[in-house]
Amino acid sequence: MVASWTRKNIRPEEEYSDPREFYTKEEVLHYARSKSVRKIQQKMAMELVDLLDASPPGTVLDVGCGPGFSMEVFEELGFDVYGIDLVPEMAEIAEERGFDVVVGDMRQLWDYFDFDFFDYVFSISAMQWISKNPQDVERFARGLVYVLKQGGKVGIQFYPYSEKELESVEHIFKKYFRKVSVEILQPNTRKERIYLLLEF
Ligand SMILES: C[S@@+](CC[C@H](N)C(=O)[O-])C[C@H]1O[C@@H](n2cnc3c(N)ncnc32)[C@H](O)[C@@H]1O
Repeated sequence: MVASWTRKNIRPEEEYSDPREFYTKEEVLHYARSKSVRKIQQKMAMELVDLLDASPPGTVLDVGCGPGFSMEVFEELGFDVYGIDLVPEMAEIAEERGFDVVVGDMRQLWDYFDFDFFDYVFSISAMQWISKNPQDVERFARGLVYVLKQGGKVGIQFYPYSEKELESVEHIFKKYFRKVSVEILQPNTRKERIYLLLEF
């Protein structure tokens, strides 16, 4: 039997089924003020831009945008940026920082955005909230292909619980995207980043 990995550390999405329970007002403020979180979110945003070879001009959707750390990167590069987040207090902070954000669920993107609108969709540290449920991932994939332009690209960083979960997500995206690849940077270290790169 081939050995497969399972995540060792416990993450909030294992203890809370809904991010609105985990992200209390205090937790949101703590997150939004953290310089170290901002730094890592922005590093991953830049790595995804490079891996996708994404270049402005273009429309970008940031899924699970939080208070807007990753959106700052896309905006500075010259993209026309939109965000979506399920937690109203997160969206509020991103709005105060000048971003165009809706409060909504990544599992029904068609409710909030136009068909055929985005050149790129990015999602950083958010999809693990839904990735243990294949039906939720399927809904996310359907929403992505609804909002993306033909030839559009998606860059996702997330924290799968296990290798099996990563494979399941990959398998689902393969039904909707012509190209799906996984890039793992600094594997098997504390700084490991798992990236999914999709082309529509
Ligand atoms: C780590 S945080 C924000 C990361 C963001 N990239 C940044 O730069 O700060 C992940 C976010 O995903 C959001 N999220 C979780 N599940 C979601 C869902 N189903 N739909 C939309 N957003 C969701 C959470 O509310 C949270 O704000």
